[in-house]
Amino acid sequence: MDRRERLIARARQGYRLAYGVEPTRFYAAPGRVNLIGEHVDYNDGYVLPCAIDRETIVALGPRSAEVKIPRMEAVALDMGDMGTARDSFDLVGKILPGENNWQNHVRGVVQALGRYGHRVRPARIAIAGDVPIGAGLSSSAAFGVAVALAVSEYSGLNLEPTTLAKVAQIAENDFVGCACGIMDQMASAASTADHALLLDCRNLQHMPIPIHPDLAITVIDTGLRRSLTESAFNQRRAECEAAAAHFGVKALRDLSPEALKAGYATLDQTLYFRARHVVGEIARVEPLAVALAQGDTATLAAVMHEAHQSLATDFDVSLPQIDRLVALVRDALGEAGGVRLTGAGFGGCLVAVTSRDALPAIDDAVKRYNTNADLPARADTFRPAGGAAPIELD
Ligand code: GLA
Repeated sequence: MDRRERLIARARQGYRLAYGVEPTRFYAAPGRVNLIGEHVDYNDGYVLPCAIDRETIVALGPRSAEVKIPRMEAVALDMGDMGTARDSFDLVGKILPGENNWQNHVRGVVQALGRYGHRVRPARIAIAGDVPIGAGLSSSAAFGVAVALAVSEYSGLNLEPTTLAKVAQIAENDFVGCACGIMDQMASAASTADHALLLDCRNLQHMPIPIHPDLAITVIDTGLRRSLTESAFNQRRAECEAAAAHFGVKALRDLSPEALKAGYATLDQTLYFRARHVVGEIARVEPLAVALAQGDTATLAAVMHEAHQSLATDFDVSLPQIDRLVALVRDALGEAGGVRLTGAGFGGCLVAVTSRDALPAIDDAVKRYNTNADLPARADTFRPAGGAAPIELD
C-alpha cells in the first residue's frame, strides 16, 4: 500500500467504526508549502505556494433515511483520544460554533456554504490526514478545503476551486478565530501537480508555474512549535493594516518602495519594519517564479536568503534555532539552491528549493544541527501535488 492508500484505508475503517456502515465516497485536499511571498496574502500581494503530497481525506456517506432532522455527523480520526473525536449538529437554523477547532472547521464550512446560498445535504463524514499538524504546512487549510469539497459535491454543487478556498477561509476566520489570508486554501484547492501556484491575492487570479525537473522541494521540520501563534499572527496582520492606514492605501500591496522610504520619519519603527518586509517580499515573488521555472539555483539561493533575513529581522517571526539551521543549510548549499523559513513562522518548517544533486548536502547540514539541538529537525522531500479532488476508487 502506498501513502494515500493507507490514508484511505484509515478513513474507511474510522468511518466503519463510527457509523457501522461503509462510506460511499472519498475526497482529498493537500497541504502546502509556500516558496515565496510570506505574510503577503493578507496584504493583497502575490504569493507562490505549492501543494505537497500530504493530504486530508474525507470519507463520506448518507445519513440513514429514518432520521427526520437534517444533521451533519463528523468524526475526526486524528483528534481526541484514540481518534474518537465526534461532532453532530443540526443543519436547520443558525449553526453555532462547537467546542474546539476541528469542529469549527466543519461547522464553519457548512455555515459559509449557507452564506453563499447553498443548502447542505445531511451526511456522515470521517476525516483523516497526514499533513503534519502545527508545522506550517497548512493542515488546517487541507482539512477545511477537503470538508468543503466533500459536503458541497455531495450536495450536488460543482464549486470552483476559488469558491472552495473562500468557504474554507471564511470558516477559519469566523469560526476558528484565525485571521489567516487566502493563500493556504487557494494552494490546497487550485494547485496543479508538478507546478507552483502564482496567486494574486487581491483578485485571486492564478496561474501554474512549472517547477524545473532538476529541482527538488524539501521541507525541514524543526519540531519547534511556538504557543500563541494565532495571537502573534493576528497581531502581525493588525500591524500591517495600521501601516497601510498610515499611508492611506487600501493594503500594503499598494505602497511603493519610494513612498515607504519617504514615510520613515513619521511611521512607528515597528510598523515601518513590518511594511518594509511586505513591500520587499512582494518584489521577490516574480524573480523567484522565473528562477523556479528555469532551474536557476543561484537566483533561488540569493532571493530566498533575502527573504529569510527579512522575515527574521523586519517581520520578527523566526527563532534563534531556526536562524542557526538556515545558516547551516545555506552554507552547505552554496549556489545549489535556497532555503528559508516558510509559513506563518514562530517555529515550524524551513523550505529548501535546490538541485536534486544537493539533497545529500541538506541531510548533512540537518545532521550537524541535530548534534547540538534540543529537538531534532527532519528533512522530507515532497512532490508538488495537484489540488483538491474527489478520489475515484476502482
Ligand atoms: C499562514 C496563514 C496564511 C499566510 C501565511 C504567511 O499560513 O494561514 O494565510 O498569511 O501564514 O504567509
